[in-house]
Formats: sequence, C-alpha cells, structure tokens
Amino acid sequence: MNIEQIQKKSGIVGRSDAIQQVLEMVAQVAPVDISVLITGESGTGKEIVVKALHQVSKRSHEQLVTVNCGAIPQGIIESELFGHKKGAYTDAREDRKGYFETAHKGIIFLDEIAETPLETQVKLLRVLETGELMPVGASKTKKTDVRVFAATNKNLADLVEKGQFRQDLYYRLKTVTIHIPALRQRVEDISLLVERFALEFTRSNDMVYRGFMPDAIRVMKNHPWKGNVRELKNFVDSIIVLEKGERITVEMVEKHMGFSPNETGANLALPVVMQQPPEAAERELILRQLFLLRQDVEFLKQLATQGPMVSDQIGMPIMSHSSEQFTPSLHIDEESALFIKNSSIGEMNMDDLEREAIERTLKLFNNNRRATAKSLGMSERTLYRKIDQYGLERKIKIRS
Ligand SMILES: Nc1ncnc2c1ncn2[C@@H]1O[C@H](COP(=O)(O)OP(=O)(O)OP(=O)(O)O)[C@@H](O)[C@H]1O
Ligand SMILES: [Mg+2]
Repeated sequence: MNIEQIQKKSGIVGRSDAIQQVLEMVAQVAPVDISVLITGESGTGKEIVVKALHQVSKRSHEQLVTVNCGAIPQGIIESELFGHKKGAYTDAREDRKGYFETAHKGIIFLDEIAETPLETQVKLLRVLETGELMPVGASKTKKTDVRVFAATNKNLADLVEKGQFRQDLYYRLKTVTIHIPALRQRVEDISLLVERFALEFTRSNDMVYRGFMPDAIRVMKNHPWKGNVRELKNFVDSIIVLEKGERITVEMVEKHMGFSPNETGANLALPVVMQQPPEAAERELILRQLFLLRQDVEFLKQLATQGPMVSDQIGMPIMSHSSEQFTPSLHIDEESALFIKNSSIGEMNMDDLEREAIERTLKLFNNNRRATAKSLGMSERTLYRKIDQYGLERKIKIRS
C-alpha cells in the first residue's frame, strides 16, 4: 500500500512532514514481520497507527489483540498474558489461555508497555526472542507465532536509567521505533484535523456543518494541546454542540479555550498558567477572570430576583428549572456548597460515587489518565484498575 492508500484506509489525517514520515515508516515496516515500538505523548495517535500497521501487515486477516498492560493488576498479569495451568492458583480450576495464545498467528499490541512489572518483562523478552512462553504453573514451554507491537507515552530510556524498565527488553523493542510528534510540533495538520472531526461529528449527529473561520483556526494553532489530537477532537465536538452548530468564530474559540483544563489540572479560580508565551498566558488569565466575574454577577442577579439556585456541577451554579415559587432573598442555598445532593443521601453507595467521580474527571481531562489519577489523588495503576472494574474502558480488545 502506498501512503495515500494507508491514510485513506486507516483514517490518519495529516500533511505535515512529521505525519508523512510516520506514514512512510508504517509503509516500510508493516509488511516485515518484526516488532515495532510506538512512542508519543498521550493522544498523539499511537493506537490509530497500530491499527494502520495491522492493516498493512501480512497478518491483516488475523486478530489484533490489544492488551492494556497498565490496566491489569500486577498479581495476575503473567497469567493473563501467558495463561496458566489448572491448579496454578487456588482458584485456577482449569487451564486458561493467555492473550499471546489468543493472538496466535496474529498480532498482540501491548499498550502502556512501561507499566509491565520487571519480572514480567523478562518473560516478554523471551517470547520476543524465541517465540516461547511458559504458562504459569506449567513445566513445559509452548511455541507461539505472534508479532508484537508495543506503545508507551513514557520515556523508556529514562525508565531504564532509573532501573524501572529492563535494558535488554528496551534494546530489543526500540530497534524499530515509530515516534509520533506532539500536535504542537505539527500545527500544519490542525486545520485538516478540525475539518475531519467537525464533519464526522456533524454528520453523525445530523447537524449542518457551517465550518470554522480562518481566524478561529489560527488561534487554535497557537494552543499547546497538551492532550494532543484527542484533546483537539473533544474540543471540536464540544464547541460545535455548545455553539449549536453555528459557524465557529475566533471569539467562540477563545471563550471555550480559556476554560479548558490543562494537564497540570489547574483550577479555573487559580491564576496559574504554565508553559505558554506571556501574551497567551495573560489572555487566558483575563478570560478566566472575566468568566468568574460573569459567574458571580449571574449568581447575584439570580439570588436577588429568584432566590436560591441549584448547582449541577461543582463550582458552576445554574438556574433552577423548577417552577416552584421563589421568595427573593439573599440566602445562599446550603446544598449548592455540598458535593453530594441532599436528595441522593441514602440512595447511593461508595462505588457509585467513585465511578461517577472517575468518569467525570476522565472526561474533564480528555481521558488523560495521568492527569485524572493526579487530580483524584490515586496512583495510575489504581485508576486503571478502577476503570476496568467499573467497565469505563475495555481492557482488552480483539479485532480481526
Ligand atoms: N492523525 C490523526 N488523524 C485522525 N485522527 C487521529 C489522528 N491522531 C489521533 N487521532 C484520533 O485522536 C484520538 C486519540 O488517538 P489515540 O487513541 O490513537 O492516541 P494514543 O496516542 O493511543 O493516546 P494514549 O497514549 O492516551 O493512549 C483517537 O480518537 C484517534 O482516532
Ligand atoms: Mg492509546
């Protein structure tokens, strides 16, 4: 397949040299049966590149088994990857196939490879080098024929330095590396990506697409997009909804951008703006202050005219839609200061609360799990486990 065909088939958008080089790499290495490491910040498109590699590979008619190594609890990761024999654990009542066996003849994609425990890394290296694996509790090795793709948003060389990733596995994996640059390093692609996402979104929601003004795109090119293409896509989708399908102007973009959360998890109310040119930082601060001011004015106006309001989002008072009669007063509704509505007390359990907190925080941070874990005060591994536990994302996907 040539580059154009690969783009068409995989849906990878981009004309920048950076993306064209990524696609050239895909065209070159996909047809050869070797392992490939894909690196890049969160949201740069590692998974979409893996899908393209699968499509162009000789194994395109076989399965692509995706395993999120960070989502599997450490204690069972080897049994999940390599399988186990009956009796290997107290509750191992029968032999179980691991993902490597499931992927036989096809491809296994080890996502978040940096999260694999060191002991498991030794075994991965063995499979990569000899094609042999040893199910947990087995006495004989098994042969498998699996091609391995691995991805990470961490710097593996740093982890090797710190003793957190095995050097031998790193050298084995990095022979063929496809690095996807951050979106801010290929801003030429932004207009094409916006166009694609806006078209897809309006089409699937039966909306008329009225486009983005050139000035709006220009401002978007100056944004840091720490969540990369994923953040851009979410931004495009939400601005179209919030502006009700209107043609998107520079004012609209600036309005919505000022308040999008960034990787540092900066609170709207705190004037902390990092890693931005001074003009952009200043603009963002002014916009935030204006926003807060407007919120305050609205809040006071409502209090004076209609009485208390209810709050549906933390820190975002909205007008009550109830038709009850309001007595004008300057009393501030106590409930709006609480995280949990009084009416929910007695009707929920901790799992519901935790699930909702995780789901909404993930959304706020454009699915950036690192920022979400940080903001919720839990380790990334715990977050992965919870995401899995609450079925917020599938841990393993099988595509054929
Ligand atoms: N060049 C691109 N063209 C079209 N869509 C893209 C492109 N790059 C990324 N996307 C889209 O952006 C979103 C994020 O991409 P993807 O899931 O591949 O990122 P990732 O690098 O795997 O992120 P993470 O490290 O967080 O798992 C997806 O919806 C993907 O389809
Ligand atoms: Mg990914």
